[in-house]
Amino acid sequence: MFHASRPDDPVARAIEALGREALATLPVALADLPRDEVPLRPFDTVGLPALRALLGRGPEPASAPAEPGVTLSAEPLAHLADELAAMGHGLIMVMGKGGVGKTTIAAALAVGLVQRGHSVHLTTTDPAAHVAEILAGGLDGLKVGRIDPKVETQAYIDKIMRTRGKDLDAQGRALLLEDLQSPCTEEVAVFHAFSRVVNEARSAFVVLDTAPTGHSLLLMDATGAYHRQATRHTGPGVKNVVTPLMRLQDASLTRVIIVTLPEVTPVSQAAALQDDLRRANIEPWAWVINKSVAASGTSDPLLQARLAGERRQVARIAGGLAQRTFVLPWLPEPPVGVEALGTLVRPKQAPSAS
Ligand SMILES: Nc1ncnc2c1ncn2[C@@H]1O[C@H](COP(=O)(O)OP(=O)(O)OP(=O)(O)O)[C@@H](O)[C@H]1O
Ligand SMILES: [Mg+2]
Repeated sequence: MFHASRPDDPVARAIEALGREALATLPVALADLPRDEVPLRPFDTVGLPALRALLGRGPEPASAPAEPGVTLSAEPLAHLADELAAMGHGLIMVMGKGGVGKTTIAAALAVGLVQRGHSVHLTTTDPAAHVAEILAGGLDGLKVGRIDPKVETQAYIDKIMRTRGKDLDAQGRALLLEDLQSPCTEEVAVFHAFSRVVNEARSAFVVLDTAPTGHSLLLMDATGAYHRQATRHTGPGVKNVVTPLMRLQDASLTRVIIVTLPEVTPVSQAAALQDDLRRANIEPWAWVINKSVAASGTSDPLLQARLAGERRQVARIAGGLAQRTFVLPWLPEPPVGVEALGTLVRPKQAPSAS
């Protein structure tokens, strides 16, 4: 639990309020359980001394200051939007673990591309996504869609029945339908929908808000399996097979953006995701550090004390993990709606000629 010690600090107040709200709306089954509250500590809770200190049984570990001399060149989200807009079209895949801000960043980048004169299809593979709510109001030039596994699977089954099932007798159709009830069908159907989106990005901007990591890696597996199947019989000289995986590997078409929080475990998980992508020969194009307390301008002493930890994570990201690093501060008001998202990515006014 975080307790703000400066009532005049909007960031600290907002963080405290979030915790209070979450506790106030606990499901009854949880609220009835015995509860222990652990205050937010100013240090990373990794290692035995830190764990002892966390429980109040030992001295606080001295935090090593961030490496001096490491320049932390994290740029604002508007610059990321500028660089993406310069592609003219393409697939922007926003990836990362649960709750780090994928949907928020994807929606903001989509709005940013529209602000720069492009039409954009923002879509999601996350069954639980709230993209539509986050963009309440809508925006000309922005189309919001979703790859819904249930809908895609039914459409796929219907199509197979219409085509392959067309000339079968009743028993044959029943058998085919039974066959299509397997879990593989959903995987294939979602992959087909994903391939359509990848193809669309050849001539327009598609921003893809992905499901939390595990889910997305399954989709990547399907993409890899399809690639191996499709290219198995293509020897040298056969050049006309371009699979969705090849399009994801093509940096002129696809840019993967990894979103993380500037904390030890989230950064390690983002690094693991990056390793998985690299194994598939997909090189993430940039990282976005979201909810940066350092960038939020807070003056709360506890949050200030935690900044050393955050700086270490930023140094880790900027100093080797990421090709390019962008940052979004911890905002006292969660950025929801076209207006709020728009201010995060608004292009800088060109300086007037003097
Ligand atoms: N920079 C920020 N400052 C304050 N609040 C933020 C910021 N970024 C995101 N949020 C809020 O944090 C919550 C989680 O963000 P979001 O839904 O974008 O994450 P996600 O990675 O898409 O989550 P999931 O994995 O569940 O899909 C939301 O309530 C969002 O409004
Ligand atoms: Mg999301």
